[in-house]
Amino acid sequence: MKKKVLLMGASGSGKTSMRSLIFSNNPASLTARLGATIDVEQNHVRFLGDLILNLWDCGGQDAFMDSYLTTQRSTIFQHVGVMIYVFDVETHGMSKDLEYYRDCLDGLKNFSPDANVFLLVHKMDLARQPKNLTFDKKKRELEEASGESAVTVFGTSIYDESLYKAWSSIVHTLIPNAAVLSRHLTTFAAACSATEVILFERTTFLVIATSSPVVPDTLSPVGTEPGNLDRHQLDPTRYERTSELVKAFKHSCSRVREEFHSLEMELYNFTAVLDEMTRNTYVLIIVHDPTIETAALKLNIRMARRKFE
Ligand code: GTP
Repeated sequence: MKKKVLLMGASGSGKTSMRSLIFSNNPASLTARLGATIDVEQNHVRFLGDLILNLWDCGGQDAFMDSYLTTQRSTIFQHVGVMIYVFDVETHGMSKDLEYYRDCLDGLKNFSPDANVFLLVHKMDLARQPKNLTFDKKKRELEEASGESAVTVFGTSIYDESLYKAWSSIVHTLIPNAAVLSRHLTTFAAACSATEVILFERTTFLVIATSSPVVPDTLSPVGTEPGNLDRHQLDPTRYERTSELVKAFKHSCSRVREEFHSLEMELYNFTAVLDEMTRNTYVLIIVHDPTIETAALKLNIRMARRKFE
């Protein structure tokens, strides 16, 4: 199953940089060396067994944009699953960006009316005013420019985990059996007495699915007073931060010519095991019960593999 993803936006807004971080495991510091994209660069990324992402990174210089919107219009905008439009948060040419954006939205309406649209307010690290104010203002402006079209807006930067949050949400909409995966993970989490189980795609480390959230009560380890509950409050940014940390760790491994295989952590209040689940996925199990051994969790992963393959 092939899903076409259009990556569009003005030249220099950061499209190729985010692609190289997410799909090629390059560090943010190397993106300054990337040259401008000429016309469209197409990539096929195998994502979960039979799901292939067909990524169209569309160079954003005016001459290319004009050609996408005229002679190449049907080629560019047909069979699109998702369009991601990137806006530089501190751009000096917002009105021109919006004009191109509206025209792309129009092309999409004609040729792929069911496509999902995601807008990224990118380079948030360069925002001159407080980030939340800047983002809210931009979001309103973009929603207004989108008219009737339903759009989802994210604030992103290649220098923190926000990029993973946005891309995980985007990719999630393309996975046909995400709800089934989530159900299986919930069963698996219960079998492991886990607080939470998370499934990541192997190359990108984007989150594919998670077990259903636990009821706060079950977070309290046996024998602790209710007053200790707060200790186990789960951080809402935990998924994207894990993606970012593991990607950075994998990059460090590759620099010393080692391959990343798995990870085990036993801390004072929780245990974490990260291991291969299938050919295309990794699973992370988080347990707050100190009596559960990591070896038992690894055995459970081995036994569950066939079910998830
Ligand atoms: P075209 O290929 O011409 O369409 O441009 P592009 O949108 O692909 O831009 P590219 O990825 O080449 O990025 C341009 C510059 O922006 C590079 O120097 C990146 O290092 C920088 N950049 C990308 N993302 C960020 C970000 O989140 N923050 C900051 N500060 N710089 C970024």
